[in-house]
Amino acid sequence: MMMKLPSAGGRSPLFALAVSSGVVLVFIFGFMAWQRPSRIPFPHSAGSTHSVITSTGERVDISINEIIRLLYDGLKAAPTEPFIREPNGSHIELPSRPRYKKKMGSDILILDLETRPLQSTEDFKKGEYDWRNINHVSGGVFNHYTYALIHGYDYKFIHAHEFEDRHATWIKPSALANHIKDYKFIVFLDADAAFRFLHVPIEWMLNYWDIKPQHSFVMAKDPWDPKEPQYNSDRFNRTYTNTGFMIVQNNENTMPMLKAWHECPEDTRYANCSQWKQPKFHEQSAFGEYIRYDYDKYIKELDCGEANGFPGVEISNCQGKFVRHYWFEKHNVKTDFRENIMNAITLPIQKIFAENKGGVIIEQKQNAIHA
Ligand SMILES: *[C@@H]1O[C@H](CO)[C@@H](O)[C@H](O)[C@H]1NC(C)=O
Ligand SMILES: *[C@@H]1O[C@H](CO)[C@@H](O)[C@H](O)[C@H]1NC(C)=O
Ligand SMILES: *[C@@H]1O[C@H](CO)[C@@H](O)[C@H](O)[C@H]1NC(C)=O
Repeated sequence: MMMKLPSAGGRSPLFALAVSSGVVLVFIFGFMAWQRPSRIPFPHSAGSTHSVITSTGERVDISINEIIRLLYDGLKAAPTEPFIREPNGSHIELPSRPRYKKKMGSDILILDLETRPLQSTEDFKKGEYDWRNINHVSGGVFNHYTYALIHGYDYKFIHAHEFEDRHATWIKPSALANHIKDYKFIVFLDADAAFRFLHVPIEWMLNYWDIKPQHSFVMAKDPWDPKEPQYNSDRFNRTYTNTGFMIVQNNENTMPMLKAWHECPEDTRYANCSQWKQPKFHEQSAFGEYIRYDYDKYIKELDCGEANGFPGVEISNCQGKFVRHYWFEKHNVKTDFRENIMNAITLPIQKIFAENKGGVIIEQKQNAIHA
């Protein structure tokens, strides 16, 4: 089931956004339209459309999809970008000989999966949408959706129904199995996990992590805490991988793995897997205790810090280098999203001041009142 996106109309949140920051958006869009006359096509018909008067007085229909794409057009990293610049000035260098040189666009699906509807949608329907009041779930989902728009990936929000006999997170294997056949990769994130750099495409991360054709799953490990050595460890004392961020690649082992995982609690292939129907960590434990031992070669386990945790976590240095997963302090999902978007919006504004576009900067050589 796809998330119903707001249709055109005065009550959409995008309209509210356009009103609240209307001057800025019109200004930026006018500036961008003037900069790049060619319209960028986008495959999604979703997204609400509004008429905007550009600075040249021309009336154009734009959607948030197009605004986001234009905003990130000059900011996006290439799949083979030599390095990514961190806000503190450090560089994260791409290793030599990257495998993924081209953007994969709609061969990649960004996937959200929830049993609950978005609470912000309720507010929106009442005409009460406000960014400041939305919870981290909407914040995370909006981060994922925006990421898909920026890079031209497909996006789906699957609203799954609850199991009767097992915990809600068991919906993951079947949802992945039902969509992987249409894609080369599915990138799944929990709502409390988000892309740290919206401008860095997943192809770049696939290169950075050296994901090979045989890898069906990419997941980051959970932290290992010497004070609680068993907490995130399986019965062989191996640390679990976290299912809050998964890259699933469509290859010959993917469906068998997803099926084995989904059917694990039936205890046919794996005795005692049903013990994970309800207790923590549910499907994550089942994957760690059983599935990975049959398919080890096809799983790329990343260090925790690559795609799990968040700044300030000390154990296992899990600081979310590329994907942040806020096990606690979940509201920071929104902060990270806001920082990304503000960076994108203020860059063209900064450009205006740097280049004195439209003569906004006026030299006052003599501090005297002219007659
Ligand atoms: C910048 O931050 C990263 C963590 O995000 C850290 O690994 C790196 O050492 C920092 N660099 C500097 C120059 O502080
Ligand atoms: C479990 O693994 C950790 C390292 O991850 C190690 O320090 C510890 O000694 C191991 N415990 C046992 C009982 O083998
Ligand atoms: C299954 O779990 C029970 C306890 O939950 C244990 O006594 C039994 O040995 C387990 N069987 C296997 C095959 O691991």
